[in-house]
Amino acid sequence: MDLGLKGAAVCVQGGSKGMGRAAAECFAADGARVVILARGRDEMDATVAELQRLGSPDAWCWPTDLLHPTSVEEAFAAIGERWGELNTLVNAAGPGADQKTFDGISDDEWHRAFSLGALSAVRCARAALPWLRKAEWARIVNVSAHSTKRQSRTLAAYTASKAAMTSISKNMSLALGPEEILVNTVSPGSFASDGFKMGMRRLAAGRGLDPDNLYDCMRWIAEDFGHPAHLPRAGDPKEIGAVIAFVGSKRNSYMTGANINVDGGSDFT
Ligand SMILES: NC(=O)c1ccc[n+]([C@@H]2O[C@H](COP(=O)([O-])OP(=O)(O)OC[C@H]3O[C@@H](n4cnc5c(N)ncnc54)[C@H](OP(=O)(O)O)[C@@H]3O)[C@@H](O)[C@H]2O)c1
Repeated sequence: MDLGLKGAAVCVQGGSKGMGRAAAECFAADGARVVILARGRDEMDATVAELQRLGSPDAWCWPTDLLHPTSVEEAFAAIGERWGELNTLVNAAGPGADQKTFDGISDDEWHRAFSLGALSAVRCARAALPWLRKAEWARIVNVSAHSTKRQSRTLAAYTASKAAMTSISKNMSLALGPEEILVNTVSPGSFASDGFKMGMRRLAAGRGLDPDNLYDCMRWIAEDFGHPAHLPRAGDPKEIGAVIAFVGSKRNSYMTGANINVDGGSDFT
C-alpha cells in the first residue's frame, strides 16, 4: 500500500531507540525525509545511518532534551530552517518515571513524569505547528500507553502522565480539526524496546528470562504486573512502527482523535 510518504517531512522525537526508532525506520523505508530528536549522540548517529540506508538519504538528527522548552524550540527552528514545512510529528519519547507507588513519589518526580510523559508532546506540537501549517497535509501521532486503562500499583506517575497525554491528544484533534491537521494516539502494550529490555535486565535478573525472547518478555510482565494480553508474547517494536507510520501518513485521511491500542489483545476499548 502506498502511504503517500515519498518526500514527506517527518520528525520523530524519541526516534533513536525502541518504538520511535522503529517508526522512523518505516517512514524512511517509504521514502520520507526524517529527522529524529533525542539526547544520546551515539544512538542517534547509528539510527541516522540506518535511516539513510533504508531510503531516507537526507535523514538527520538534532540533539534535544525534551524536558527543556528552549531545547525543543531550537530543534523546531532548525527543522523550519531546513525544510520550511513538516508533514508528520511523532511524539514517542519516554518513559520519564521510575517504578514507584503514588505515596513514594516526590513532587519533583511527579513534575518530571508529566514533563516528559505529557508536556513534551505539547511542547513539540506547539513548536511544530507553524511548519505543520505550511505543509500540504499534516499529522501528529502521540505514543501513550495501554497502562492508562490497566492500573499497575508501581507505575503511578508514569500512568497518570500518559493518561494526560491521551487526553491532550484528543483536545489537539479537536483544536486542529478545522485546519485538517489529524491528531491520534497510539497506545502500546508490552514492547521489547531498548528501554524495556534494559529495565527487564535490571528487574528480572537471575530469573532465567531472556530479554531478547518475546515470550520471556511477556513472562516477566505477567509475573510482575499480571498478564495483560491475549497473545502470549511481547511485541517487537517493528510491529507498532508500522502502525505509527500509517497513522502518521497521508493515507490516513479521516481518522483523528482516535486512541489505537496495539497491545496484543486486551479488553480495553
Ligand atoms: N516499551 C513498552 O512496553 C511501552 C509500553 C507502553 C508505552 N510505552 C511508551 O512508548 C514510548 C516509546 O517507548 P520505548 O520503550 O520504545 O522507549 P525507549 O526504547 O526507552 O526509547 C526512548 C526514546 O526516548 C528518548 N528520550 C528519553 N528521554 C528523553 C528526553 N528527555 N529528551 C529527548 N529524548 C528522550 C530516548 O533517547 P535518549 O535517552 O538518548 O534521549 C529514546 O530515543 C514511550 O513514550 C513509552 O513510555 C512503552
